[in-house]
Amino acid sequence: MWKDWVRPFVRPLPQWSVVAVTPPQRAVVASLRWGKAAADVTTDHTVASLRPLTIATSLDAGPHPVLEYRDRTSGRLLGKLQLLRTATVSAEGSTLALYHVAAGGHRCLAWPLRPWNTWLQNRLMRNGNASPHSLMAPMATQQLMIAYLCPRPVVLVSVDAPGHHNLFPMDLIGPLGRSGLFTLALRSTNVSVPTMREQRRIALSCMPAAMKDAVYALSVHHKQPLADWTALPFPVRRSRTFGIPAVAAALRIRELDIVHSEEVGSHTLFVGRIVSEETLTQDAQLHHTAGFHQAWRRRRGMPFSEARSA
Ligand SMILES: Cc1cc2nc3c(=O)[nH]c(=O)nc-3n(C[C@H](O)[C@H](O)[C@H](O)COP(=O)(O)O)c2cc1C
Repeated sequence: MWKDWVRPFVRPLPQWSVVAVTPPQRAVVASLRWGKAAADVTTDHTVASLRPLTIATSLDAGPHPVLEYRDRTSGRLLGKLQLLRTATVSAEGSTLALYHVAAGGHRCLAWPLRPWNTWLQNRLMRNGNASPHSLMAPMATQQLMIAYLCPRPVVLVSVDAPGHHNLFPMDLIGPLGRSGLFTLALRSTNVSVPTMREQRRIALSCMPAAMKDAVYALSVHHKQPLADWTALPFPVRRSRTFGIPAVAAALRIRELDIVHSEEVGSHTLFVGRIVSEETLTQDAQLHHTAGFHQAWRRRRGMPFSEARSA
């Protein structure tokens, strides 16, 4: 028993928690605040780049708003990010604002555990642990964890062109509600970026939490294309309009027409319009949130279900 008490003082919390959430997530509300104004951006903000850490929204919230994440039930503040507008992106008559993250903090752990956990996590990052976001400095990774207070759904992206097929996981995705647009932030080193920019059609399979291991195994395809659709360990089905192979066991399959793409720091920001959406089944979707968020919920007796390995 004493070990449970001592553990948080010697070992950091995991940075990411892989959880099963029925979409759309309703646990956390995100708002932008600027001057005396505030607006709900739960379904109107996303990550546009990891280096520098950049947030995109279709709301014009002035030059330096604050992005707040609150627990929906209790209204408690979980964390916030201070933003600085750096650029705008025009696509299909809409203007998207890009904001750099200037600073941030969370309230999921009480003092002194909060700074101590940050210190332990940063030390682990500096010692070169296998962070999926290893291109980021520890402070930016801490800020990214705050952006994950809104649990982020995981999809598999299908790319299918003559001579190039691919299927890889993404979670830096999301609707920018006010504009009706949908964005994806893909590291510019991804092997499918040139094909996506040229072909401008993709399918997104919303993945059941139960397929966690299969999803993670496909992360190798950020670097190498898929040899053949038949090489996958699960069946595919053609998407409705474009006929792109997508995951037959997906919860939902969306087709995206890419209307704009541009490099934003380390990533290519793809801006698309959803042209079709097929709901195949209702179940929990694979999501990522911050480890300190799951710890906060666990202390209150309401943790998200963990996505389990098969
Ligand atoms: C579940 C999951 C979601 C991911 N989402 C994204 C994403 O949205 N954008 C991106 O560029 N890479 C994404 N990646 C790729 C990883 O960040 C990483 O680049 C990839 O796993 C290769 O890792 P490595 O470069 O450390 O070998 C994702 C990987 C996984 C497993």
